[in-house]
Amino acid sequence: MSRKYLIAGNWKMNLAPSEGATLIGEIVDAVGAQTEVDVVVCPSFVGLDAACRALASVPNIKLGAQNLYPKASGAFTGEVSPEMLKALFVGYVILGHSERREYFVETDAFVNEKVRTTLEYGMRPILCVGETLEQREAGETMAVVETQLRGGLADVSADEASEVVIAYEPVWAIGTGKTATPEMAEEVHAAIRELLGSLYGADIAAKVRVLYGGSMKPGNADGLLAQPNIDGGLIGGASLKATDFAALVESAKKQS
Ligand code: PGA
Repeated sequence: MSRKYLIAGNWKMNLAPSEGATLIGEIVDAVGAQTEVDVVVCPSFVGLDAACRALASVPNIKLGAQNLYPKASGAFTGEVSPEMLKALFVGYVILGHSERREYFVETDAFVNEKVRTTLEYGMRPILCVGETLEQREAGETMAVVETQLRGGLADVSADEASEVVIAYEPVWAIGTGKTATPEMAEEVHAAIRELLGSLYGADIAAKVRVLYGGSMKPGNADGLLAQPNIDGGLIGGASLKATDFAALVESAKKQS
């Protein structure tokens, strides 16, 4: 398989800048100089500058942001632009996370604007999709994921699509300790890849990394990462502890 595993830490609204820099130091020690797996950490906006400094001489760990506003600059009080992120060498941007969809009422159209802006600036979107428990129980999982994917990727060209990372995160598994079984996750991941194939052709679909997210931790990562269409993880809780995060990188390395 040609896809390189990606393990991304979503720190959410945790850690002051100095705490983030300390965690990065611990992660650097724990992960070592490996290059088999792409590793990304996504601090809060105010933590990006300290994280950028902490990663200055660490080529194998990249910086990600948790959001952006899809304009270069201007009168958008409280927002952060792609230019500001580029200035801090941000390479990835998490977009459409279910917490933003739920608490900040982000629509697929708005997420799509952000995806296209992120690509325009040469950064990689990590586009999150996933169903709620009610939707799963109503048999709507694939319909929901398909709508989010088609909406999020609207007007994204095939060339650009190969730079996009998808994260399948069943909402009921996020921060709950409940994980999708490897088989449940693989079923959706395979369907996502099939949909990418119908949108962009098989070659592009084979290149796009589809991460799993939702209570992934050292104890359950091996089974998930062994699935043919699971190319890594978007990690919340377990990304805040260097040893756990490094164990997930190790788990992906074993599958590489
Ligand atoms: P979790 O979060 O690993 O704490 O479930 C994952 C995410 O929200 O990206």
